[in-house]
Order: sequence, then C-alpha cells, then structure tokens
Amino acid sequence: MKKVLVINGPNLNLLGTREKEVYGSLTLEKIQNHTQDKLKSENVSLDWFQSNLEGEIIDRLHKSLNQNYLGIVINPAGYSHTSVAILDALKIIKIPIVEVHLSNVYRREEFRQTMLTAQAASMIMGGLGIEAYYMGVLALLNNEEK
Ligand code: DQA
Repeated sequence: MKKVLVINGPNLNLLGTREKEVYGSLTLEKIQNHTQDKLKSENVSLDWFQSNLEGEIIDRLHKSLNQNYLGIVINPAGYSHTSVAILDALKIIKIPIVEVHLSNVYRREEFRQTMLTAQAASMIMGGLGIEAYYMGVLALLNNEEK
C-alpha cells in the first residue's frame, strides 16, 4: 500500500471554529474522514500530522525521510508566508510535495501573497476548501503514473 504524509500547520486544529466564512464549518477531523472516505478505492493510506509549532513541523519532515512515503501533502497555514526554516526543511525532501490551501490566498490580504514554502513544492493548490487534501493526494497518485 502507498503511503502519503499529510501535514497541517498552525490554527488548522481549530477548523470548524475559526473564520468559518473563509474556511467553512467542518472540523479537521471531519475533513480527514471525508478525505479518507473519498480515497477508499485508491491503494493509499494517509498519515495525518498537525502542529501549531514550527519546530515540530520541521521534525516531522525530517522523520519522513526514512518512512518511505510516496509524497507529502502540506498546508503550512500561516507559516506558508513566513517560514524560511520550513522552506529549508522541505528542500531536503526528495519525494514530491503538494502544498494545499483551503482558501485562495491570492484573493485575500496582500501579506498572504508572499509564498515562501511553496517554493519547495512540486505542485500547489488553493481555493479547494475541504477537497484540498483529497485533490492533493490525487495529484500525487496521478504524478506517480507519469
Ligand atoms: C491557509 C491560508 C493561510 O494564509 C492561513 O494563514 C491559514 C490557512 C489556507 O488553507 O487557506 O491558516 O493555509
């Protein structure tokens, strides 16, 4: 079975509560279940990781180096726009990386249009709402077929 690591950054643990008008009303747990459900017919298992701490996200990325993943789907959340350290960690990863965002950051405040971590991604996706993780995994599976 193929394995994909899904990483979520800060404040995404409060999906369903935070800025519902932007991110919708589903919790991260519900989005995870929804994603797993939609991938039922695919031969893929997902490892979910969420942290509000930059260093923990970096440690998880380092750990992934020896874990035989097909690829990584990451929503670095606020760190997308600020974290040189996560960008550096992503650059160490040799497998495909998909950066996903629930919202279309280009429609939002100007500071969200600085995309640091995306510079290390093979693919980027935004504005997909709760389908972001499903689409991200599909992109990895499709990428593998090429
Ligand atoms: C986000 C967009 C970021 O700008 C924001 O800081 C988030 C969520 C998204 O999924 O749309 O926390 O990554």
